[in-house]
Amino acid sequence: MSLNSIDELLPLSQLGFGKYYGKYMIEATHKDGQWQPWALTELHKFEMHPGSKTLHYAQEIFEGLKAYKQAGGISMFRPDANITRMSLSAEYLAMPPYPEAEFMAGLKALVHKLAHLTPELPGSLYLRPTMIGNSNSLGVAPASEYLFYILACPVGGYFGDVSSDKPATISIWISDKHVRAAHGGLGAAKTGANYAASLRAVAESKKLGFTNVMFLDAVERRYLEELSGMNVFVVDRGVLKTPPLGDTILAGVTRDSLIKIARHLKIEVQETPIAVDEMLKSIASGSVSEVFACGTASVITSIAELGWRGERIRVANGQAGPVATKLYQNLCGMHAGTTTPIAPEWLVKCK
Ligand SMILES: Cc1ncc(COP(=O)(O)O)c(C=O)c1O
Repeated sequence: MSLNSIDELLPLSQLGFGKYYGKYMIEATHKDGQWQPWALTELHKFEMHPGSKTLHYAQEIFEGLKAYKQAGGISMFRPDANITRMSLSAEYLAMPPYPEAEFMAGLKALVHKLAHLTPELPGSLYLRPTMIGNSNSLGVAPASEYLFYILACPVGGYFGDVSSDKPATISIWISDKHVRAAHGGLGAAKTGANYAASLRAVAESKKLGFTNVMFLDAVERRYLEELSGMNVFVVDRGVLKTPPLGDTILAGVTRDSLIKIARHLKIEVQETPIAVDEMLKSIASGSVSEVFACGTASVITSIAELGWRGERIRVANGQAGPVATKLYQNLCGMHAGTTTPIAPEWLVKCK
């Protein structure tokens, strides 16, 4: 099996998302109750006991963030937020958090080493910190040994068609049949289990001709939660609305950035429950003029069409709306280093 590693950059059109890996990785082990220092190594395969905890009980967490090429070098966007979220995910999965200062140092070292593999915008170097429980006794219990590693992938657009002027558009099926997360569960953690729970729903959405799925709350199956890998916003009479965070939604770094950018641009923002029936009525009346999703992989993606109980509902004229476009340009400007970030620490220079 090939590692699909590259040491020379390919054209953006060939990169795709997560197809090719940089030739180096960061790796650290947790043994005898403590983390050992990380090492920068060549990307390599793991030898694993078939009884490894991660393979049986899904004790696994990960993160996703990007480094961008700018005029003066290469910077990561808000890595501290991803590091904090990974510590929270570790808590949910009963894992030992990776020390945050060393985590940041590892990210910087990897991006520095792979600077030549960071594509021009709208491409980026996608970073994938991962932690797995790796001891091998089959009892259901937290592992006694862990592996932490960071992979790097030069990437183009998640949905293929990327532009820094305007978000791509997709269609979304709203499912009242599948549940991603319930209160008291793992919904706020970035763990593989949540993605496993979404795969069947995503497959069904594709069978119905949509790009992805929107999950509703597990109790009433009425309130918007999020997509399988993105948070959601609607624009209702000029007010930007998004479901409030809780233990069933992943607290997206992009979601948080957009809220802060919108407030900076004097756009009113409300974190408020959004009922699917009311949203659809408001789309029909024209008061909801935009629905869009956001996340590190695709930044902002406008939702042109929604599917609900056998109907297909177009959102406004099916194009990316002015609020999504303005926020997209603003955030992409920060990635490019041409727009001043909301706070200077949002950009962390690696080279
Ligand atoms: C379930 C889920 N929600 C939301 C997001 C968006 O989070 P972020 O903006 O930090 O990438 C992601 C992507 O990582 C996700 O997987």
